[in-house]
Amino acid sequence: MTNYFNKLLRKNHKILIFGKYGQLGSVFNKYLGKNSNVLQLGRDDADFLYSEHLPKIIREFNPKYIINTSAYTDVNGAESNPDIANEINCNAVKILAQASKMNNSTLIHYSTDYVFDGKKKTKYHSSDKPNPRNIYGKTKYEGEKRIIESGCDFFIFRISWLISEFGKNFIKTILTKLNEKNDLSIVNDQIGSPISSDLVAEITCKIIINNIKTKKLFHLSTQGEVSWYDFALYISQIARNINKNIIINPIKTSKYPSRAFRPKNSLFDLSEIETVIKSQMPFWKDDITPIIKKLDLNF
Ligand SMILES: NC(=O)c1ccc[n+]([C@@H]2O[C@H](COP(=O)([O-])OP(=O)(O)OC[C@H]3O[C@@H](n4cnc5c(N)ncnc54)[C@H](OP(=O)(O)O)[C@@H]3O)[C@@H](O)[C@H]2O)c1
Repeated sequence: MTNYFNKLLRKNHKILIFGKYGQLGSVFNKYLGKNSNVLQLGRDDADFLYSEHLPKIIREFNPKYIINTSAYTDVNGAESNPDIANEINCNAVKILAQASKMNNSTLIHYSTDYVFDGKKKTKYHSSDKPNPRNIYGKTKYEGEKRIIESGCDFFIFRISWLISEFGKNFIKTILTKLNEKNDLSIVNDQIGSPISSDLVAEITCKIIINNIKTKKLFHLSTQGEVSWYDFALYISQIARNINKNIIINPIKTSKYPSRAFRPKNSLFDLSEIETVIKSQMPFWKDDITPIIKKLDLNF
């Protein structure tokens, strides 16, 4: 893992990273943060709600690559705060893309499976037409479009079901609940392939190191498929420090009240990313199990 980060650092590219303490930003911070060629900025240093400051930051640091991990990711919250979500996920991204173009920097950005409605019966290809059904998905899709329109060099990675040892995520939520008294109900009719932030960061580095062609949107996830229910069961089988008496029950999405619409199918066709990285993406259990074990140790 550190191999790709070290290789990237040896290239001596100046890299500007937005987002420092999120699931993905924290991984970049862990591996690249201390290097003098890398400037990583959190919300306090570069607030996307005041995006007029972003071009100056980019001009002054003059990076070859800009990695944007910042986003408004509270899917339910976006339904009540559409303007804030739009400002961070679309308007600020437009400013970033325009400044990247002016500065000849390549913008690396992350989007989501939520740009799709999840009705497709097979895996989503990057050429499939998005049809976002919630505010978060809509603002992320608009952000993608602003990047493409800007004419800057870019990679957009649409990712799904991101998991990390850092920040809030599904594994931590399940481990917490498996230590409480009540049985759990988890939806079994939404399927996807979880991917670790470590793997997303690693693929990002690999793409930069290999100088792979720019102006391209990729779908990025692991192999295999799982429902949230089966994922929770798997976590309960791997974890040691939990109350083993708690029962996990499968339920339908329709029985689980949520402000925002959630797609049933989040599976991605990985052929394009596998062609450029010249290897197969791993199966989700191989990628995710070490994180479950690591987080379990902290419980
Ligand atoms: N989580 C998922 O399952 C998932 C799925 C598909 C795609 N994605 C995409 O993957 C990317 C990374 O997601 P993540 O899970 O790492 O997100 P996350 O953990 O929610 O982190 C979000 C980041 O956005 C930053 N941020 C929020 N509001 C900001 C503002 N006003 N100004 C500047 N920065 C702000 C936060 O800054 P601080 O670090 O300063 O707090 C944080 O670093 C995002 O583009 C997301 O849309 C995520």
